[in-house]
Amino acid sequence: MLLLRFLLAALASNIGLALTPVGNRPSGGQIFVAPHGSRAKQVDHNMEIFAPNGTLIHTFVDVMPGSASATKERRSLLAARQSLSATQASTTVIADPANVIEAFNTSFTVPALPKTFESQIIYLSATVVASNQGVEFAWYRCVLQYGANAFWGGPFWTMSTELELGPDGSLLVVVGEDFNPRVEVGATIQTSILHKDEGDDIFWYEATFNDQPTALEVGWHTPVSKVLIGLEEEGVTQPSEYPPEPFTFKDTNLTMTRGAPEVAWDVPSDSTTGAYVTVDVDGAVNAELTVHFLN
Ligand SMILES: *[C@@H]1O[C@H](CO)[C@@H](O)[C@H](O)[C@H]1NC(C)=O
Ligand SMILES: *[C@@H]1O[C@H](CO)[C@@H](O)[C@H](O)[C@H]1NC(C)=O
Ligand SMILES: *[C@@H]1O[C@H](CO)[C@@H](O)[C@H](O)[C@H]1NC(C)=O
Repeated sequence: MLLLRFLLAALASNIGLALTPVGNRPSGGQIFVAPHGSRAKQVDHNMEIFAPNGTLIHTFVDVMPGSASATKERRSLLAARQSLSATQASTTVIADPANVIEAFNTSFTVPALPKTFESQIIYLSATVVASNQGVEFAWYRCVLQYGANAFWGGPFWTMSTELELGPDGSLLVVVGEDFNPRVEVGATIQTSILHKDEGDDIFWYEATFNDQPTALEVGWHTPVSKVLIGLEEEGVTQPSEYPPEPFTFKDTNLTMTRGAPEVAWDVPSDSTTGAYVTVDVDGAVNAELTVHFLN
């Protein structure tokens, strides 16, 4: 936890200017840390990050497609993201201001540790995806992560709330000094991403797990219409670096203002990982999706 204290101190001393990146992702984007209880709000093509007391602490510029630099860089984003391999199942609904996604919930059991640790990182997550005119630009998720990381060490499983932003894949991670993110093998986790009406013209979402206080609230100009569950991995080179058993997202629910929508989970076949997803129970209520590792 010493490193975490150091990071929080560094963070505090930088506030008022802009957040300083604490690391780089293999995909090229930078990693930033925000205090627990922060808010991320879309303002035109930017995402502005506010500390819990309302102070603006950082602006991610031009994350939205449509701005000149975002369009220019979209190609390089697609190329860069390939080093982070993904296997996902997703579903898209028709959302409008009168009928928004109200809740995206799922639950799972923390799996056994992979037999070997070779500094691989495995992310299993439930995500809402923001897009503009069909181009995705933000991914807000609850993540179960295996591996070691700069904040908490490892290798073990941790839970966190993250916001990934285009076009360069910057990542905003939220940490709390009093919060131990480590989770134990066999624990049951329920994640929820819930719409929150704040009486303004922003569509706010808060992601939580096991009813913890919300780490980060995120608000966009348009309602989100896509959700996904899945696996992302960095540096897996052999089957024993995956969890030894399949991983199931259970009791997966998607509700909208007018109730449960028609949902068919879509599993793309062009996976670049050694894993695949099956839809065991389809639909918007109690759906079940399993990640099978090729081991
Ligand atoms: C607001 O919070 C930030 C970050 O925690 C802190 O640096 C700043 O001093 C606070 N401002 C006020 C007015 O309390
Ligand atoms: C999904 O909905 C069902 C039926 O209402 C409920 O029993 C279950 O707990 C919900 N799942 C989650 C993860 O909230
Ligand atoms: C989603 O989870 C939240 C928080 O646990 C709960 O209040 C809500 O009823 C759940 N909704 C569904 C549809 O599962």
